[in-house]
Amino acid sequence: MKIGDIEVEQGVLLAPMEDVTDLPFRLICRRYGADIVYTEFISSDGLVRDARRSMEKLRLADEERPVAIQIFGGDIDVMTEAARRAAESGPDFVDINFGCWVKNVVVRNAGAALLKDPPQMQRLTRSIVDAVDKPVTVKTRLGWSKSSIVILDVARMIQDAGAAALTVHCRTRDMGHDGEADWTWIPRIKEVVSIPVILNGDVKTPEDVKRAFDSTGADAVMIGRAAIGHPFLFRRAKEYMRTGVVPPPVHHRERIETCLEHLRLELAWKPQRRAIHEFRKHYGGYLKGLHSNAHTRQIVVRSESYDEIEQAMMTYADALDEHDAAVRVSDSQV
Ligand SMILES: Cc1cc2nc3c(=O)[nH]c(=O)nc-3n(C[C@H](O)[C@H](O)[C@H](O)COP(=O)(O)O)c2cc1C
Repeated sequence: MKIGDIEVEQGVLLAPMEDVTDLPFRLICRRYGADIVYTEFISSDGLVRDARRSMEKLRLADEERPVAIQIFGGDIDVMTEAARRAAESGPDFVDINFGCWVKNVVVRNAGAALLKDPPQMQRLTRSIVDAVDKPVTVKTRLGWSKSSIVILDVARMIQDAGAAALTVHCRTRDMGHDGEADWTWIPRIKEVVSIPVILNGDVKTPEDVKRAFDSTGADAVMIGRAAIGHPFLFRRAKEYMRTGVVPPPVHHRERIETCLEHLRLELAWKPQRRAIHEFRKHYGGYLKGLHSNAHTRQIVVRSESYDEIEQAMMTYADALDEHDAAVRVSDSQV
């Protein structure tokens, strides 16, 4: 797949996720093999008003490239100006969000609301393509509801408007994040457009990644929720595709050390209190499935200090080492 100067073969991408895919998390995912990362969506209104939180989200680091900045909004002039500002921040490309389902976005005729008006989606895309000197891509859903699937028309229209790639979250707007993503649309979309088509929705394991490529012919696969607290998925998926062998589970030491490294990056980028609070959503994933993790989770999600979190996590890692050693001894005695 080629988007502008970026070329990736069977790329596994990190999905844009509000309050999740900030710069530290993107860096972590790139280290673990994500081929392209996306910022959280950024409000076009916020960007043209120079709102602090929106401007903050434009910060990029060279080590995270290739990176896309995603913007959302419903007004053509505002979106076009916002796209210009986003492009000035130096992303590898600009992505337009036509898929967000949440009410306060949709009521502003933004995000998935555009699925009810594909011609407006096309006008918006064209205006942005004409205004910026970077490739422009689109991320959307199948349609507003099961009875109004418009993705084939939308794909043609945004290609005509000059979009460089299309990501399809294989659900409808009214499904939100529930129900099964329907990947069977991907080969149908690929029949009607020549731009790269990126599959998104319900890719949770290395086997899912391979199945997504093999069963649909997608040009790339994008992972959202399954990467939260588990950036290792990118590396494991690639290893599986390369070797055909499912890699072993990630060792608890690596999970705990990566979690702490991620938190340290957050602390380097944000004020301490905010970093510690916003990080709480990540512990569940990093500790998921580890033996007796409830007590450690309780400590870390209440803690206000890095040192306390590190101490709790390292004590827990030691306890897991001892547990593993005890299991090995009892297994060898069977
Ligand atoms: C917490 C959260 C925040 C999200 N924020 C965005 C966003 O800012 N932009 C966007 O295009 N999609 C956003 N999404 C949707 C994801 O990019 C993705 O399309 C969706 O989660 C389906 O992929 P998955 O099944 O791999 O999670 C968000 C999803 C979640 C769970």
